[in-house]
Order: sequence, then structure tokens, then C-alpha cells
Amino acid sequence: MANLPSSSFCSSSIITAFLILQVLWSCSLLANGCYTSIISFGDSLADTGNLKLLSADKPGEESLHFFLPPYGESFFHVPTGRCSNGRLVIDFIAESMGLPLVRPFVGDNGNGIMEFRKGVNYAVVGATALDSSFHAARGVHNPLTNSSLRVQLGWFKQSWPSICRHVQDCNHLISRSLILMGEIGGNDYNHALLSGKSIDEVEIYVPLVVKAIISTVKELIKLGAKTFLIPGNLPIGCSPPYLTMYYGSDKAEYDNSTGCLIRLNKLSEYHNELLQTELKQLRELYRDANIIYADYYNAAMQFFRYPNKYGFTNGALKACCGGGGPFNYNSSIQCADPSSTLCAHPDTYVNWDGLHLTQAAYKVIYKSLFQGPYTMPRFNSICPTSMLRPIKELSSSM
Ligand SMILES: *[C@@H]1O[C@H](CO)[C@@H](O)[C@H](O)[C@H]1NC(C)=O
Ligand SMILES: *[C@@H]1O[C@H](CO)[C@@H](O)[C@H](O)[C@H]1NC(C)=O
Ligand SMILES: *[C@@H]1O[C@H](CO)[C@@H](O)[C@H](O)[C@H]1NC(C)=O
Repeated sequence: MANLPSSSFCSSSIITAFLILQVLWSCSLLANGCYTSIISFGDSLADTGNLKLLSADKPGEESLHFFLPPYGESFFHVPTGRCSNGRLVIDFIAESMGLPLVRPFVGDNGNGIMEFRKGVNYAVVGATALDSSFHAARGVHNPLTNSSLRVQLGWFKQSWPSICRHVQDCNHLISRSLILMGEIGGNDYNHALLSGKSIDEVEIYVPLVVKAIISTVKELIKLGAKTFLIPGNLPIGCSPPYLTMYYGSDKAEYDNSTGCLIRLNKLSEYHNELLQTELKQLRELYRDANIIYADYYNAAMQFFRYPNKYGFTNGALKACCGGGGPFNYNSSIQCADPSSTLCAHPDTYVNWDGLHLTQAAYKVIYKSLFQGPYTMPRFNSICPTSMLRPIKELSSSM
């Protein structure tokens, strides 16, 4: 070492200096968990209040069952417009990034627009990836919202220039944002299937749904977005509405390791495979973008296969809150309706109200993505787990 030529001494100190800079840079990231903002698009799996705000001035809709107790009871202690008893995956992400819970875009009168710099949510309960006109032309009318993915992207484009300050600031802000693209597309299938379309017919929508998601991602990349988390569809064959609709079917229709409906889960798998194929192509096209697939399906299959292992001692297929029947689901008696029943311990249930999961189940999905292997590429290869903050306990209050 004493004879070390000065040139290599120099280069090693340059390397040291570089490492120190890297450490400093990482520390500055540590302060904000890798991203300075979350920009979200999607449906009820990510809506933190948009539909509630959209419905507030529509007579008769301000009391949609999602907006009444016991929604929100376990964490927020009031209904917030979230379709669960507490937090959603997006809330856990925001917490872990050290960011405020992502604010709904709708209803802001302009005063709070600066707050959107740390996160803005365009997701709406009931939203589809394809436009309402596509579904309406097929006789499927969306009872909740026409705010499809295209509409949400329109809101983004319209509002973004006032959320950031000038071209440079806008580029900077969007490039350091985590874009949560979904889950979206589930309702394109749910609304059609639950209004009586066959699985074969709905399967034809899949390439179109995936194309709508991909084109939205492309547009955002062109606007400067760099990092995307794109969830696939959940295993819809494990949902009480379908389990109720097909109740009493031939045993061969059910996956005997979960009790879920095989053909409907295959539909979700088909969507997810096609989505991943398209994401692979996007990664080749946009090499400096981080395009991360979030495997909600397999993250959720963990607790559908082994509910007890996750504390879901009441099983994974029966809703905590609903109108009775074998899966505590009845489309004419929704959770929060006067004659619905509510379970005593939501943390021991996977399913909250039929189509939506409990906070406890969403937490398992969050952990599987951010601390486990259910993202592709692995989220921690882009943002190390050590930069994430612990999340609050299930029952802690705001
Ligand atoms: C969706 O759009 C149609 C046609 O413009 C309108 O009649 C309907 O009320 C809208 N639905 C919702 C839920 O906003
Ligand atoms: C589950 O289904 C598989 C394939 O249909 C069958 O081979 C297996 O024996 C079944 N297991 C049980 C426990 O019924
Ligand atoms: C749903 O509730 C209605 C009204 O109580 C009842 O008539 C119907 O049989 C129930 N359906 C199921 C599937 O339990």
C-alpha cells in the first residue's frame, strides 16, 4: 500500500468522494422515501374520496352506501369515500414514502392546489379503463361514474400546469413522482359480468382494456413521468358477488385449494398476462423509465390459499359487511344498508363488502409488494426497502 502509485491513490479518492456523494444523495432520498409525490389513477381500489366529492352535489347520491358508516370505521373513524374499513394500498404506499395520504383531485377549489405537489389522486370508485360509451354501446351502463381512465388523464393534463410552476419545475416534479396506474380494468369486466354478459364475451374486452392502460402510460412518459407502479387485476373468482351468483355450481368449477371460481380467475390471469407482455415492450421502448408490474393477483392468492397464516381466521371468501347469504353478500342489501350485518373483527376477514377487501388484506398486499417479491422488477431494486418508513398499526387513529 505504501508504494501505491499516486495516480491510483487519486482515482481511489475520487471513488471515495463519489461514494460519499452517493451516500449523501441516498440520504436526501431517505428523507422522502425515494419519491416526492404520488400521482394516482384507477378505481375503488385507489379512490381516496373522488366519487364521494363528485356525488356530494347530486341529489340521492350523497348517501351511496360507500359513504356511510361502517366504511372507514377501523382507521379513519368516519367514511372518507374509501371502499374499505380503513386504509387502501395507496395509503400504505404514501405512509411508507413519508408523504401525506394522497388527496382526491375532485372538489378542490384551487386553494389546496399546492398540496397536490405531494400527491394527487384521480382514481374514482367504479371507473373503467375503457370509456363509458364503449360499455353503453354494449348495453352496460355504469351506475357510479363516467370518469374512465381517459377522463382521469384529461383531469391530470388540465390540472398539472397549475400544480407545478413552470416547465422546468413540472418536469422535475413529474420525474420524481411515483405514478400509481391502477388497479384499473377490473370494472370493465365486473360491470359487464354482473349485468349478465358471458365470460366469453367479456374476454374479448381484455386486449382493449390493456391497450387503454398502455396508451395512458405512454402519454405520461411523454409528459416526463419516469416511475410507474402498474397493478394487475385481483382474482375476481374469489369475490363474493360471483361466488353468490354462481352458488351451487358444479364442483369442477371451483379451485379446491381456495374455493374460488376457476374461469373467472382465468379471466384475471389472462388480463394480467397480456398486461405484462405489453409492459415488457414498453420497457424496451422507454429504457430510462421504471415500469414496475404490481402482482396484486398472486399477492392476494397467498391469503386465499392460506387465510389462517395471515390471521384471516374467518376465511377469505365471506364478506365482513353485507346482506347475508353464504358469502354475506346480497346485491339488494349492501354493506351499510340498515339490514346489512357487520362482523365484529374485520381484521380476521379478507373481504370487506363483497367487491372490496379489508384494510388488513390491503396491508398484506402492500407488504408483499414493497417488502416481498410481488413486483417486477423488484421495487427494492429501484427504491431500497431501507428507505421506507414503517406504517401505522391497523387500528391506530389518524
Ligand atoms: C354518464 O353519462 C351519461 C351520458 O352523458 C349520463 O346520462 C349519465 O348520467 C352519466 N352517469 C354518471 C353516473 O355520471
Ligand atoms: C383438487 O383438484 C385436483 C385437480 O382437479 C385433484 O387432483 C385433487 O385430488 C383435488 N384435491 C382435493 C383435496 O380434493
Ligand atoms: C337477498 O335479499 C332479498 C331481500 O331480503 C331476498 O329476497 C333474497 O333471497 C336474497 N338473495 C340471496 C341470494 O340471498
